[in-house]
Amino acid sequence: MTKEIRKVAVIGAGTMGAGIAGQVANAGVNVLLLDLPSEGASVNALAERGMDRLRDPASPGLMSDEAGNRIEIGNTRDDFHKLADCDWVAEAIVERLDIKQDLYRRLNETCRDDVIVTSNTSTIPIRLLTEGLPKSFAERFAITHFFNPVRFMRLLELVRGEHTRDDIIKMFDTFCEQRLGKGVVICADTPGFLGNRVGVFAIQCALHTAFDMGLSPTEADALFSRPMGIPKTGVFGLYDLIGIDLMADVAQSLVNILPAHDAFHKYGNPLPLMTKMIADGQKGNKSGQGFYREKEGERQVLDLESGEYVDFERLDLPLAARAERDGVVELFNDNSRYGDYTWRVLSQTLCYAASLIPEIGEDPVPIDDAMKLGYNWIHGPFELIDQIGVDRFIDRLELEGSEIPPFLQKARGSSFYAVENNILKNRWDHGSLRPLLRADGVLRFSEVRQTLKAQNENSSASWFEYEGAAVVEFHSKANALDGDSMRILNDAVTQAPNKNLNGVIVHNDAQHFSCGVNLGGVRSFFENEDYAGLDQFLDRDFQQIVLAMRECALPVVVAPSGLSIGGGFEVVLHADHVICHSNSVMGLVESLVGVVPGGGGCKENLYRWYEKTGDMEKAAWNAFMNIGMGRTATSPVLAKQQAMLRQNDEFLMNRDRLLSSALTVLPNIKKAPARAPIPLAGKPSFDKMQDWLNTAKDKGMIMAHDVTVGTEIGRIVSGGDCEPGTLASEQDLFNAERKAFLILAKTPETQARIVSMLDTGKSLRN
Ligand code: NAI
Repeated sequence: MTKEIRKVAVIGAGTMGAGIAGQVANAGVNVLLLDLPSEGASVNALAERGMDRLRDPASPGLMSDEAGNRIEIGNTRDDFHKLADCDWVAEAIVERLDIKQDLYRRLNETCRDDVIVTSNTSTIPIRLLTEGLPKSFAERFAITHFFNPVRFMRLLELVRGEHTRDDIIKMFDTFCEQRLGKGVVICADTPGFLGNRVGVFAIQCALHTAFDMGLSPTEADALFSRPMGIPKTGVFGLYDLIGIDLMADVAQSLVNILPAHDAFHKYGNPLPLMTKMIADGQKGNKSGQGFYREKEGERQVLDLESGEYVDFERLDLPLAARAERDGVVELFNDNSRYGDYTWRVLSQTLCYAASLIPEIGEDPVPIDDAMKLGYNWIHGPFELIDQIGVDRFIDRLELEGSEIPPFLQKARGSSFYAVENNILKNRWDHGSLRPLLRADGVLRFSEVRQTLKAQNENSSASWFEYEGAAVVEFHSKANALDGDSMRILNDAVTQAPNKNLNGVIVHNDAQHFSCGVNLGGVRSFFENEDYAGLDQFLDRDFQQIVLAMRECALPVVVAPSGLSIGGGFEVVLHADHVICHSNSVMGLVESLVGVVPGGGGCKENLYRWYEKTGDMEKAAWNAFMNIGMGRTATSPVLAKQQAMLRQNDEFLMNRDRLLSSALTVLPNIKKAPARAPIPLAGKPSFDKMQDWLNTAKDKGMIMAHDVTVGTEIGRIVSGGDCEPGTLASEQDLFNAERKAFLILAKTPETQARIVSMLDTGKSLRN
């Protein structure tokens, strides 16, 4: 019996419950969100607070107001009867077995006998959760372990109990993967499941080893981060982010439930300094200070020996830079104290992961997935061992007298992943290699590309022929676009029509589709005062190539996820069709670094507003505000409202399905028509824009240089001092963009903004 999920109840409107309700609503399903009743003015105050958090612009859990309207709030005293018509009840209340069991007993009495109940527990086994409840309840019970923040973290661990029915696991797998967009990893009911089992081990190991070796937080965080393909928060930074007290509790709960022989016990206990910090209220970001703090706008870091805060100084380690560029093998080869630290942390973490097979499963893929999707590691533990080389890894462990986990030992002379006969395979516990299987329609380009040979490639991009399409992949750092990236795109749109293909797909599997044009390149142009070179870059390497996308005889589909901003978004804007991920963030943010979009962004924004409103004055004004404010849309729904996407552009909840969907729709996509000349709004609009800028500056809303940048944006989108109705061609608008870009790039204020962004990562307000 397969059920359809039409209405969901979430109980507990805290961090996780509100997040789950938000994502279910984003998927278009109605939700009832209940928490305990409150004494004060509003009986539903707790659920209301959950909704407020969902609407926080800093981390919007909702894709749109419309999604928010799908959530009905209430409390478990007055609204419990409403659960009667729900198909799935997701429990996300406090982590206490007795309280959870009380709730399940009530649910068992109130709900229909086919309702599915799941818990979001991180630590309590299903066996205990369902103890004393009838088997008919246990059969419909599972753990759906989401990660925080629910909308953005891709991992969902789906845990089955001894009695959980197969059809329920299957149905949930599909619902959570396709509708909620999660990377579902089905786990056995073992402590910490997969993500936290390995992830918390890695964090604790990195922390304890730093203390043992006398590394400062600054040093440890410079290494246990990007150089290992781990988020830049580092280990001490992550402790601050999660909360030092909460992290200590998480580690303690694993200590309590893991068997005595588990290697975790070596690192599970809190360090004396941290116990003192918790007692002194130094609990991390939420208490304003932890291992790091901000004091009078300056970042400080705790000196672990003296317990005093000292000024934070960014550490630029050549080893870290090399590893970030060339991979983890650089760390393996390094004999310094830093190489020693990373080896100790990596070797123990990777061995720990290998030691879990076959206990938690027969295959390394779920562990690698859990770390990539739940902890944002770029590579999973087994992929990292492959990068070092299984034999080299084992040899060094043997040399040190370390124990080699049997699953690792079995891989000697081989690897955990390999391509055989054009098929990507992975090792498993009962044999050598078998094809790596994903659900139908799930295609990760990082996996697919291993089976393909590039038609053309350089260090910034490649293009491949795949399933009837030319697939262009950007792969520079943050996918910043330079001449090389654009040349590959140009080559694909030029060559594809000669190759009997259906079209071109621009897609990649990195965290971000593209963070814009490489500002380092722009900096070189102005530092060398090579403005002719800059103009040529904008014209030949950018504008003419995005134009070539539209002029290509075949359809071009762009399938982005993560950030598509600045120049990255200008590529998106020139597609015939867009299929993006539901968490895509898009926008033209160039004004923040003192320039204008110079690759057709101003032009497209103006055309699109004109198409949407039919009124050039409004169109010019909206484009002026959007681009001048560097606005981004945090979901495709909002991007459509802001004329950044067209009504027929699509989005999908699961980014792993973008490529297969793009391949499916490609033969049916119609080419976007050439842009006809448009009548400009002219001088009256331009004057209005300048008035607005001067008033905003007088009121202190914007800075002096914002007026200069805003004036140039206004000049492009209104036509400047021309008569209203003056016709502008697409090329006229391209020319206007380049002219403005060059004017601004010559100003010391814009140059200072670019240098600040490159050197400190911060946007300068001047
Ligand atoms: P939280 O403390 O933010 O929220 C819990 C909510 O449940 C509170 O609003 C509380 O008023 C409500 N509540 C308590 N007893 C209730 C009852 N009997 N009926 C209705 N509501 C009740 O907790 P959080 O962080 O959202 O955790 C919820 C669950 O998710 C826990 O089991 C936790 O272990 C798990 N979890 C938490 C993660 C996190 O990062 N915070 C990650 C993954 C799982």
